Amino acid sequence: MAGYTFVVEHLDPELGPWSALEYKTIAQESKNAGCRFILSSVPESLLQSQDLQILHDAGAEGRNDSIEEYFADRKDRICLLDPAAKQELDTTDANQFDVFLFGGILGDDPPRDRTSELRKKGFTGRRLGPKQMTTDTAVRVTRMVVLDKVPLDQIPSVDFPELKLNEHETTEMPFRYVTDSTGKPIMPEGMIDLIKADADKAFDGLDFVDEVDGMENLAVDKS
Ligand SMILES: C[S@@+](CC[C@H](N)C(=O)[O-])C[C@H]1O[C@@H](n2cnc3c(N)ncnc32)[C@H](O)[C@@H]1O
Repeated sequence: MAGYTFVVEHLDPELGPWSALEYKTIAQESKNAGCRFILSSVPESLLQSQDLQILHDAGAEGRNDSIEEYFADRKDRICLLDPAAKQELDTTDANQFDVFLFGGILGDDPPRDRTSELRKKGFTGRRLGPKQMTTDTAVRVTRMVVLDKVPLDQIPSVDFPELKLNEHETTEMPFRYVTDSTGKPIMPEGMIDLIKADADKAFDGLDFVDEVDGMENLAVDKS
């Protein structure tokens, strides 16, 4: 076991489909990396839901209480990933902290700084660069820095990728994503379908718009 714990404090009253997909991905990737994933501050009614059962099956530990209660004795070992922190996360932080805390907040544009709800509790903060990431991306980047010892500025990423919706329309995702070996943003399984359904159920052939020399190419239609 790597001995690290990733905690997401769920700060919304509901669990929307986007968050559910993000949390499931965090659960699976944490388990594969030999780390614990705790999803806390989950309302009691949600804890009993099918959605939480799915997350539990993927490896998440759901709980109703909050991190400052159940980890009260190790506050100095907890690092809050905070877009407003002064210091960037560094590979050496792997020695200083063993719990990494994230806001369970759906990304918003412009960002409303709801991470402040955790910041005001006094946790030590670290930033993951200047751009807002989805929660699963923030956990992925933290894992890469802390476990794989990849410096933050060497993690391959793309800012604000565009998704092609149809021949004429694209939508921009207002976040930074880690990219895979083909240069495409890593997103939770099922997320593109969800975006596609949200945008317009009739659109086919959704894919990322490739960028070559700063110019956008037509996305490949996989339908
Ligand atoms: C989708 S972001 C939410 C950002 C949000 N708009 C807010 O109101 O703070 C969810 C979580 O991912 C983490 N996160 C995202 N981008 C980050 C960054 N650039 N630096 C540090 N943490 C980040 C934070 O823990 C944040 O609470």
